[in-house]
Amino acid sequence: MGYRAIFGSAAAFVLLAGGAWGTANAQDGAAATDDAGQMVSFTQEQVASGQREYVRSCQDCHGANLNDGEFGGPPLVGFYFREKWYPIGVAGLFGFTASAMPPDRPGALSDETYANLVAFILSENGIEAGDTPMPADMAALAELSLPENEE
Ligand code: HEC
Repeated sequence: MGYRAIFGSAAAFVLLAGGAWGTANAQDGAAATDDAGQMVSFTQEQVASGQREYVRSCQDCHGANLNDGEFGGPPLVGFYFREKWYPIGVAGLFGFTASAMPPDRPGALSDETYANLVAFILSENGIEAGDTPMPADMAALAELSLPENEE
């Protein structure tokens, strides 16, 4: 996968994704999230398989409730998580997760599995599942927008 080679460093990835968002936002003004494209979507099946993989590969560090990990993983739910990631976007979240998680074997899971994990995380943050599956592809994900963050 090209993006893993290009964005081998998660920090560089976030900076780059953040920079790209900054440009789009400057053009769109306040309505960036509304105009950025189609709202993100994923299916209940993706959430369910994402949850199964989460329990296997992520829960020890990030916790059963995604904010109560025992081994130093930061919260993956809540206002501050969304405040950090929603402006970066779903492609950025997918890219970071796929290139950096789990820390002992980053990128070891399939793209589809990472998409399922992101679907599960977004679902836990209050976005409802629908009929259209989430693509496991950076370019397609970059077309999708996330809702406004709410407390
Ligand atoms: C060994 C413990 C560990 C495991 C297992 C683990 N993580 Fe993490 N995770 C971390 C740590 C530590 C960070 C913070 C790293 C950083 O900011 O560079 C992190 C950061 C994250 C972030 C970004 C959170 C933020 O606030 O920026 C996401 C999303 C994430 N992990 C998802 C996952 C997923 C999905 C899995 C399972 C495939 C997983 N993690 C497995 C320890 C872990």
